[in-house]
Amino acid sequence: MARIIGGIGTSHTPTIGYALDAGKQEDPAWAPIFAAYEPLKAWLADKQPDVVFVIYNDHVTSFFFDHYSAFALGVGAEHEVADEGGGARPLPNIAGHPALARHIAESLVEQEFDMSLFQRRPLDHGCFSPMSLLFDHAGSWPVALIPLAVGVLQNPVPSARRCWKLGQALRRAIETYPEDLSVAIVATGGLSHQVHGRRAGFNDPTWDRQFMDLLIDDPETLAAMSQAELAMRGGWESSEVVMWLVMRGALAARPEVLSRDYYLPSMTGIATLLLENRAGAAGLTPASELDRSTLSLPDSQPFTLDVSVRNYDLNLFLKQMTDAGHREAFLTDEEASLRASGLDPVDQDLIRRRDWTGLIERGAIFFGLEKLAAVLGLPNAVVYAGMRGETLEQFQASRNAPGALYSVGSSLKGDAGGK
Ligand code: FE2
Repeated sequence: MARIIGGIGTSHTPTIGYALDAGKQEDPAWAPIFAAYEPLKAWLADKQPDVVFVIYNDHVTSFFFDHYSAFALGVGAEHEVADEGGGARPLPNIAGHPALARHIAESLVEQEFDMSLFQRRPLDHGCFSPMSLLFDHAGSWPVALIPLAVGVLQNPVPSARRCWKLGQALRRAIETYPEDLSVAIVATGGLSHQVHGRRAGFNDPTWDRQFMDLLIDDPETLAAMSQAELAMRGGWESSEVVMWLVMRGALAARPEVLSRDYYLPSMTGIATLLLENRAGAAGLTPASELDRSTLSLPDSQPFTLDVSVRNYDLNLFLKQMTDAGHREAFLTDEEASLRASGLDPVDQDLIRRRDWTGLIERGAIFFGLEKLAAVLGLPNAVVYAGMRGETLEQFQASRNAPGALYSVGSSLKGDAGGK
């Protein structure tokens, strides 16, 4: 029978992949990232799991608001690395495990989790940013991958409790697979961060520490928290942390903590956690749930269904920066590209003026701005600074590692990442 050997929790910020691709191992601003991943990488190299089940979220790269799913399971034979606006990272494709994925899908549906299923959709930094530090991958990957994409960008998003229950169902699904496979569960995302609006750059390392404590010792308390409470404590985009509950729900009640680290260089804490499974079952406590969409936070624009529907074309134009032809046309003749877009003149003007705040207030999602910045060869920090009404220097001075610039593209103009 298949067995779950343990779980890993990890942030998935593009910083991690960027640091690797840019060769920042010796740079003091980036070195702690590599140190944090060493014990996790060593554990995986020692245990050699057959399959890694990665819970991640896409950032309007391969999934868009034309059809947005709460839970989408990757059932394909192979998974590609996505182009997020500046060319795909130089990583090899990774094999899927269609037989186990099919079994998991069937088992989850039987347990009343009706999954969306996908194949041939490239995976973005949500998956490959941490994967590239967890495994050696020169030429090929030593493990097969089953990805689970969780829809955390557009309200309503799955609750912590739903994710916790999904993890428990996932455990039953994997442990009923007849073949003798070892499986590691990797949850990605968070912890506290906000990347849009004037609250961009918000973190709460104290809450992040409490979150990891609770995840280890008292996950039912986290499962009882509403998305509203999680957003209040951790920032709007920290809705991603519910994905850690899926991993925790799939583990035994008392896993052994083998490694734990936290480093906050810039926008998102690089949190890592390694839990090795022991025997025993996780508990489940019913919990109350509030509606996150009713929450009003200062300096934040919730990306609701209403915003999504009204601004579909604007977000689609930005999302299409993942298409080489679209971005080439934009870079060659921006005016012609904007004219041909059919976008409202207000939208066109906001893009023309790189008015990051105006775009957010209009209803663009941050992850579209991130792609536009990548196409322009700009680091994300330029967007953050713009939204906060600061210069790049002022914004960088507010970070713990001011030199740590990064992008979701494969390069920055003038090697801004090295400065
Ligand atoms: Fe993310």
